[in-house]
Amino acid sequence: METIQSQVDELITQMTPAEKAGQLTQYFYFRLPAGAEPALDFDAEEQPRMVESALREGVAGSLLFVTDPAEINRLQRLAVDGNRLGIPVLFGFDVIHGLRTILPVPIAMAASWDPQTIERGQSVAAREARAVGIHWTFAPMVDIARDPRWGRIIEGAGEDPYLGAAVAVAQVRGFQGGELGAPESIIAGPKHFAGYGGALGGRDYDEVNLSDSELWNVYFPPFKAAVEAGAGNVMTAYMDLNGIPAAGSRWLFTEVLRDTWGFKGFVVSDANVVRSLVTHGFAADLIDAAARAVNAGVDMEMAVADPAYAHLPEALESGVASEQAVDASVRRVLEAKVRMGLFEAPYIDEDLAREVLADPAHREVARVAAQRSAVLLRNEGGLLPLDGGGLRSIAVIGPLADSKRDILGPWVFDYDLDETVSVVEGIRARAGEGVRVDHARGVPVVQRVFPSLFNMFGWNKPEDPEGFEQEAEFQQAVDLARGADVVVVVVGEWQNMIGEAASRSSLELPGRQRELLQAVVGTGTPVVLLVMNGRPLDLRWPAEHVPAILDIWYPGTQGGAAAADLLFGDVSPGGKLPFTWPRTVGQVPMVYAHTRSHEPENQERRYWDEDSTPLFPFGYGLSYGRFEYANLTVEQPVITTGGTVTVSVEVTNTGDREADEVVQLYLHQRFGSASRPVRELKGFRRVTLAAGESRVVELPVGPNERRYWNAAVRDWVIDSSIFDVWVGGDSTAQLSTRFEVTKE
Ligand code: GLC
Repeated sequence: METIQSQVDELITQMTPAEKAGQLTQYFYFRLPAGAEPALDFDAEEQPRMVESALREGVAGSLLFVTDPAEINRLQRLAVDGNRLGIPVLFGFDVIHGLRTILPVPIAMAASWDPQTIERGQSVAAREARAVGIHWTFAPMVDIARDPRWGRIIEGAGEDPYLGAAVAVAQVRGFQGGELGAPESIIAGPKHFAGYGGALGGRDYDEVNLSDSELWNVYFPPFKAAVEAGAGNVMTAYMDLNGIPAAGSRWLFTEVLRDTWGFKGFVVSDANVVRSLVTHGFAADLIDAAARAVNAGVDMEMAVADPAYAHLPEALESGVASEQAVDASVRRVLEAKVRMGLFEAPYIDEDLAREVLADPAHREVARVAAQRSAVLLRNEGGLLPLDGGGLRSIAVIGPLADSKRDILGPWVFDYDLDETVSVVEGIRARAGEGVRVDHARGVPVVQRVFPSLFNMFGWNKPEDPEGFEQEAEFQQAVDLARGADVVVVVVGEWQNMIGEAASRSSLELPGRQRELLQAVVGTGTPVVLLVMNGRPLDLRWPAEHVPAILDIWYPGTQGGAAAADLLFGDVSPGGKLPFTWPRTVGQVPMVYAHTRSHEPENQERRYWDEDSTPLFPFGYGLSYGRFEYANLTVEQPVITTGGTVTVSVEVTNTGDREADEVVQLYLHQRFGSASRPVRELKGFRRVTLAAGESRVVELPVGPNERRYWNAAVRDWVIDSSIFDVWVGGDSTAQLSTRFEVTKE
């Protein structure tokens, strides 16, 4: 039986330098809506023609941004029938949180602290993508984000490396199934390697300067976990990391990724990132850029036009690009194509594609994911869940409440608005016939100060309805609230205010939303606040004055239905925050896993003008149940450095209904060869408990949970020391115990 390697080696021996460069070139293929103004500077007419001739000539190995099955088959035929060796095209796309069925945004899925739900959601996304002919997704985005001004915080799993690693593994498994090339699965491409979330000032694309300790202990672990889970691809970051543009960093893509972690897949650059090595002031010209990127281990270049890798033949000719490096890159790309079965079956069944996209089971998976992602931030007086039986009228207020586009969040292109359930629709459907549900927007939309990158892909810009009159609308909303039994106000950011190229200098609710909320609360009608967001927003006023606050994030296609399920108590919220929620942007960056300093007792008073504690702590989330923790024990109070302790705790639901709790374990090393964070998440488990039910949860703490990269010795270290352990429902858990680690 011909092995993958022999099949690939046979091909490589026949390939010209231009054909090799072609396999290392991926083009955007845009069919923009008529009249769309490209956000990037390219000729929207000429670009597709250029790509099609590149396919025929065998100098384009991969495409992205094509999602129509018939179009994919057509373009595939141009390559397979056109190019000399009949090498098929690898189709990649940003299937970040669903293709047709849109899941909650990734930060929301991380807030579920539920790897099984995340894996199931991404397996649905993979099934839909593979069915239309997409072989590879540029996801999961696993960048640690500790500055919420950075819009791409929405695409990841927040601030913590332990949670981030668990979410990364769940997503890779969801996308790839058991192994690369499994049916109904696609290649997972963790991104952006590495450190992208550390952008200076939270300004997307700007430089990142991180210490080795931050890289090895915080920013690398989710990538390492994704690689160990078998991810078939990794994407480069855009920016300079410590002065070296990521795509030119041999340290990142050869020494760390391949030599240290044993990554066997292929690397793709982010958009135009090899070309931009010249812009960075790193490469002298495109030949130099191509040579330095391929020598660094960047296998494939993603480009709009004029790729640097088109100059690889010259770079090989002049000897600045290594023939061995180029062949190794071509081998990795061809192996991926063989593993995905593209040579045997390059085309897809277009009827089957339609059938898979229409599968109602996908919508149910999305609804459950949205239910399990929501985080209950406040519930004074038990206003939630709403008493469906006792209500006659519900006022739903806010411009996001009836938006079917915003509820999907960013990074969606193929959504189906007919299947999308807005918050108003979800509440109306759940409240039932006898309850009057009215909606008023109350305030106008808010425009960004510059257009979103994504405007060119169709409707991404919020608009007020025809004839919207601010003052009349505001008053109408307040009057509606005054006359209702309960008010549900939806606040947040419009979806084009978060994501890529969507950094913000403030965390305020955009526009007049807070003013509207204050006026509605002023009517005296009980208010439930729903937050539609991807970053923490300034909720200091609501946290004091609004009795119930539920963060629903951008919950996706079934978001309105899930929101109603939660509001009426069909399910209890069980999500927990994946980041520290600051009071104000002035506190940023703010993380729970900070070190003690010489004045830990004053940690809450570092600013004279504002409390320096978070508004809501990392790992925080309330429930309709009530949970008590007891009997926290460590089986082995003393172990040696290679040993493992089993921490066990008994958690009881003392509430009157079934609910979920995320049991979290935090660790602190009291002394050793470095100052270690006051607490670090080192274990968690989401459990469902019936009313009155108790469960003993056991969480292991072994060498992997205690090792860390030490800046003094510049290597990994496991100290002997005394370790404090806290277990509870968020990062401020008080129930504690400890164990000791002695030298072997
Ligand atoms: C974008 C993003 C990257 C995405 C790629 C293709 O600029 O940085 O995350 O996968 O280009 O859309």
